[in-house]
Amino acid sequence: MVRSQYWLARKVLPNVYASDGLICFNSHAFLEDPAFQRAYQRGAKAVGGPDWYQWHWRVHVGLWAAQNASRLEGDFVECGVNFGFLSSAVMEHLDWDQLGKTFYLLDTFAGIDPRFITDGERVGGAMKKSERSLHHGTYVSGVDSVRANFAQWRNQRIIVGAVPETLDQVDADTVAFLHIDMNCAPPEVAALRYFWPRLTPGAVVLLDDYSYRGFDEQRRAMDELTAELGVPICALPTGQGLIIKTE
Ligand SMILES: C[S@@+](CC[C@H](N)C(=O)[O-])C[C@H]1O[C@@H](n2cnc3c(N)ncnc32)[C@H](O)[C@@H]1O
Repeated sequence: MVRSQYWLARKVLPNVYASDGLICFNSHAFLEDPAFQRAYQRGAKAVGGPDWYQWHWRVHVGLWAAQNASRLEGDFVECGVNFGFLSSAVMEHLDWDQLGKTFYLLDTFAGIDPRFITDGERVGGAMKKSERSLHHGTYVSGVDSVRANFAQWRNQRIIVGAVPETLDQVDADTVAFLHIDMNCAPPEVAALRYFWPRLTPGAVVLLDDYSYRGFDEQRRAMDELTAELGVPICALPTGQGLIIKTE
């Protein structure tokens, strides 16, 4: 249904970007950039089939964030990896093994853990959605195919299990890039709280769902935590939220 609305928008206004919750009249020239295309295609390859994500602008933001972070001291962390679309695109874009950093990749690889969702998320059907995603293959079941995808790179560590229980397996002293994408508030809050003191000055935190429609629990929880940390979040029209650790 939503996809057909994007199609209609593109038909009526051929120059708009219309996909992934976004209809935008401004330039999306980055789509023509060969480096972007190469990275995006590597991300799509991680999913192993046609690109049903169609989330170019979010990946563009992720690549921008990662490129900035690559110049800082510290490793990269993603909490909520799934098949590894975004992180594979980042690793391709940065020629990962040349960088001398480790990419820590954390996921249950079995969908949302019912112990770590809010009552509101439970009532809103988060577990049903997660089970449906596992059933339809939009969430990965098991880590083997993910390991095969990331075998291209040496400097990565896949950490299997539920955040927050696995956070202390990340043995990075400092972190320059943190991507949080678990589609439920409690582990996301725990991850940001855990890594905040380890983030190097200038580090980028990207919250995948912060301003995405229907993910209000995550937005409210992050607003509460960042008020406590004294840092603002920039809500992006892609649905993401962007935080820079300045000091
Ligand atoms: C939207 S997907 C992540 C997409 C991914 N960032 C990408 O680039 O395609 C959300 C992932 O969060 C994981 N997840 C949910 N709750 C989790 C938790 N408490 N600990 C670890 N992973 C979790 C799910 O298993 C799922 O793979």
